Amino acid sequence: MSLRDGEIKLTGRTVFITAGANGMGFCFARRCAGRGANVVIADIDEAAAGDAAARLPSAISIGCDVRDTMQVERARDVAIARFGAVDLVLSHAGMTQAGPLDRFSDADWTNILDLNVIGMARVLRAFTPHMTERGRGHFILTSSSLALISGHPLSGFAAPYVASKAAVIGLAQSAAVALAPHGISVTLFAPDLTETGFAKGPPPDAAVPIAPSAAATLVPPLRQTPEQAVAVLMRALDDGAFLASATPRHEKLLREQVEAGFDPLAMAPAYAMGKTA
Ligand SMILES: NC(=O)c1ccc[n+]([C@@H]2O[C@H](COP(=O)([O-])OP(=O)(O)OC[C@H]3O[C@@H](n4cnc5c(N)ncnc54)[C@H](O)[C@@H]3O)[C@@H](O)[C@H]2O)c1
Repeated sequence: MSLRDGEIKLTGRTVFITAGANGMGFCFARRCAGRGANVVIADIDEAAAGDAAARLPSAISIGCDVRDTMQVERARDVAIARFGAVDLVLSHAGMTQAGPLDRFSDADWTNILDLNVIGMARVLRAFTPHMTERGRGHFILTSSSLALISGHPLSGFAAPYVASKAAVIGLAQSAAVALAPHGISVTLFAPDLTETGFAKGPPPDAAVPIAPSAAATLVPPLRQTPEQAVAVLMRALDDGAFLASATPRHEKLLREQVEAGFDPLAMAPAYAMGKTA
């Protein structure tokens, strides 16, 4: 990938981040800024995006809801107008909702898929012509350990989320194949449970909130910091790896998953025994 030379070269490059105002998105913004990149924080929370950009040496903020094609295209145009080009895009925006499988309405499914899957497709579609024209660029798509490694106890309480994040794996693989001939590369980012606003639980207006007592027994105490998750992502970028999985010992778990024929129930003992820690 043309951005790499041993490690990924970010000095003077421009990095565009959806959901960049908080959590892992902002942590990634800080890491990129620390390597000399210009940063574009695109986030639905315009005020938080402004605060985040103000903490970085060369950054702008743009209010952007990835559920709206026009907002995504406008954010792209503002970024290119300000910095001349966009080299790397972290497509990170996503949402979750917890509840029993049979309680999610059509609207619940549509909302999650619209943001988590089509939101990523909108970002890919908006930036692909720009990168193709330049013959270089890099996309990072954020999935989740819940989709990458089956059998997690929480996965049975988050069907639309897990399905959407599995779709992101397919989208990233498809994009990697489609875009490689144009000099554009792709990384699949799969954070594990990470201490951000997102991991604090379902939003208060979730239609089918999980009972707090059930959540307490299901959520393992081990959570990573955003810095730990983003360190894994930076390493994958430096190594030119497709997969940036923050799950400890994920290689072993992925092998076990293949050996189990992708049967999630066969993976349950790995979680029960705390093998992922
Ligand atoms: N935190 C975890 O445990 C965890 C684990 C695996 C994957 N993820 C993924 O990470 C992403 C969430 O990031 P985080 O955990 O760093 O969360 P976070 O809660 O700290 O930040 C989420 C940001 O997303 C923004 N946002 C929400 N909806 C948006 C939209 N429609 N368009 C643009 N921005 C929007 C919010 O304003 C906020 O700034 C999601 O894609 C999620 O699936 C999180």
